[in-house]
Amino acid sequence: MTDLESRIDKAIGALDLEGKVRLLTGAALFTLHPEPGVELDEMVFSDGPTGVRGTQFAGGRITCLLPNATLLAQHWDTATAAEVGALLADEAAAQGVHVVLGPTINLHRTPLGGRLFEAFSEDPLLTGALAVAYVKGLQDKGVAATPKHYLANESEVDRTTMSSEVDERTLREVYLLPFEMAVAEANPWAIMASYNRINGITATEHAPLVEGVLKGEWGYDGLVMSDWFATTSTAASANAGLDLVMPGPVGPWGDQLVAAVRAGEVAESTVDEHVRRLLRLAGRVGALGAGGERSSDVLPPDSPQRREQLRLLAARGMTVLVNRGSVLPLAAEGKVVVIGRHATETIAQGGGSAQVRPPHVISVADGITSALGDRVSVVDGVEIRREPLSAAPGALRDPETGELGMRVTTRDAAGAVLESRHVESSEVVLGEGGWLDVAATVELSAEVALTEPGRLQIGVRGPGEWEFTAPGHHEKVRLHAPGGPGGGVLHPPTRTVDVHLEPGARLTAVTTAEESFRVVGLVTRKATKPAAAAISAAVHAAREADVAVVVVGLTQEQETEGEDKISLALPGDQDALVAAVAAAAPRTVVVVNAATPVLMPWLDQVDAVLWAGLPGQEAGAAVAAALTGEVEPAGRLVTTFPARDGDGPAWSTVPVHGELAYAEGTAVGYRGWRTEPLFWFGHGLGYTEWGYGDAALTTDGHIRSVRVEVTNTGDRAGREVVQVYWRPEGEPVRLIGWAGVDLEPGRTARVDVPCDGRVQRRWVDGAWQSLPLGGEVLVARGLGDIRVTLPVRADQS
Ligand code: BGC
Repeated sequence: MTDLESRIDKAIGALDLEGKVRLLTGAALFTLHPEPGVELDEMVFSDGPTGVRGTQFAGGRITCLLPNATLLAQHWDTATAAEVGALLADEAAAQGVHVVLGPTINLHRTPLGGRLFEAFSEDPLLTGALAVAYVKGLQDKGVAATPKHYLANESEVDRTTMSSEVDERTLREVYLLPFEMAVAEANPWAIMASYNRINGITATEHAPLVEGVLKGEWGYDGLVMSDWFATTSTAASANAGLDLVMPGPVGPWGDQLVAAVRAGEVAESTVDEHVRRLLRLAGRVGALGAGGERSSDVLPPDSPQRREQLRLLAARGMTVLVNRGSVLPLAAEGKVVVIGRHATETIAQGGGSAQVRPPHVISVADGITSALGDRVSVVDGVEIRREPLSAAPGALRDPETGELGMRVTTRDAAGAVLESRHVESSEVVLGEGGWLDVAATVELSAEVALTEPGRLQIGVRGPGEWEFTAPGHHEKVRLHAPGGPGGGVLHPPTRTVDVHLEPGARLTAVTTAEESFRVVGLVTRKATKPAAAAISAAVHAAREADVAVVVVGLTQEQETEGEDKISLALPGDQDALVAAVAAAAPRTVVVVNAATPVLMPWLDQVDAVLWAGLPGQEAGAAVAAALTGEVEPAGRLVTTFPARDGDGPAWSTVPVHGELAYAEGTAVGYRGWRTEPLFWFGHGLGYTEWGYGDAALTTDGHIRSVRVEVTNTGDRAGREVVQVYWRPEGEPVRLIGWAGVDLEPGRTARVDVPCDGRVQRRWVDGAWQSLPLGGEVLVARGLGDIRVTLPVRADQS
């Protein structure tokens, strides 16, 4: 027995039942109870997929905002995933965070999924390989990773109650595979159980999946925590293998679990096992008898080195979808007009619990302007949001100090001021247990930072009882958030009016205290203008330029936790904007600022499309580097893009009678496409050309590897991702391996692509079987560009 295990034994022996049970529910939203008696420090958790936000939902510490998961996955590179894990570990250490709640390794089952931006890909092997590297990157530096959400959590509609109906074979071969790979190769110290049900049983009570597959068959020795507020039972969840209820301090375990043990419904040894796993986690992250001191000597998020790292991570994952007449990289001369609201208000991240507070976001307009100088002009585009956000940084000033931000004043029931503080942002979160939560009312006040009088949309954001006052306007209103966990933070409602304001106009909003977790903020933005006027200004500017760069995309209204899309169409009048600009400009390049597929009805009318993802804090600098070719956008798509709404093997995310049938079975994503999509999984042009030569297979019962010669036949250095697919007889085609290669122009390399046996199995009658050799192997740049086809003989050796 190791030192850690004997220490854990002693600790368990030293605690009484109440003491043990207390540890098994969080102490707050993102912390666990310390227990000095056994030298257990407070453990701190933080959301993680795109940056380590810390323990506050909004307005917390400023941290790195990374490119989103799909943009990182588009590198198709485990070294990149490991680099990201290591970066997150540094950010965690700087904040005293022990456990990062990521990566998200659910799959892109249907393109409507609102949360796909957090998850790597539609392919289980690619997802699993990236997860392994990411987990190792974090844990090698002593910070726990938490792959989530276990299991079959691919959509958001009714996410806490819906049942994903998935046959056993599909579960094993597709949805479990990334978790299986992560457990086998990286041993994540924690895993998060999802909100949904799987075949009728809720994930936090799913004994067959948690006790059976994860802890039993795979021998997982880490901790299984619930998703936030997901646990709804006492004995059923405790007996199913769930180890920790999050968050706390209130929850269905506590006294009820003590009573359940006393009543014989839960064995005390089961409680001990949960405590053992919790203490094991503590031991692994240095929170058990370690004295609590951790290194915080890391690069600040706005340090030149970090910024360069984040810029490259974003730019290299960007993907060239179309490039007619080599309009990209942009020519060294000529007038460039940059058009679109996404150019000026670039979307750097998706919505929900993955959100972080970055030091800055470089807009695409600023990025291109600083790269190309005075040959660039910028024109705003059409509206892209239904609802406004809280005011942008710089739009409000504290009326007392004049600093950017707002003043927050708390009062008691008699109206006496308790506290008055300056905050830098335009919104705060209530219900996190801080100074804002001991008041009867919370007042937000600010002056509008205008330089000249103007027409503005102003108002309040967040659920609750409000009294809002501005010059010439006064109203009382109650706003409601949609239900579901975190609804008041994930989807805060807004109430706005359009008014004419003078510089310095004062806004005051008072909300009455209530017990709920909610965002409250002040809204100001320019009053909306008609689409026709915006399009005509863009067309006029496009005629005068040599190249128009139109930046379009999605916002957190589509790419967010807690809600799915209903269409892949770009919101608002963006399609009309692109078509009108393409008709007017000599050449048109479209930059899409979104993580997940959108429809492109204008595709034949434009010269190039750069898929830019949600690029994080250095967004515009990365887009500029990709457009100019300073960095090759060498990404390859990680999901298949439909040409029309409804196309593809799986579409709707709306459960029927509470159930969502995964009817396509194992034929997920590109595996199940019967028609030509807009772009295949694996597609991406980069900036050079590639020739494929001789190829050969090595087999040994399985396909072990494929060796192929590739030549950079273009005139620039570039990176190719050699993809190997297998189409076994009678089974869907599947990715079995890939390898990246960087080559100078004119060079040839012999590339060995290792092929993974775990996608060469099938699950039959409760056991794995090898798929028989046969069918054909395809060496391809996505299934739309197959370069070599190799028959696989059944007797091949
Ligand atoms: C999300 C998790 C997240 C948790 C904590 C939940 O709503 O589903 O992914 O880690 O909140 O913020």
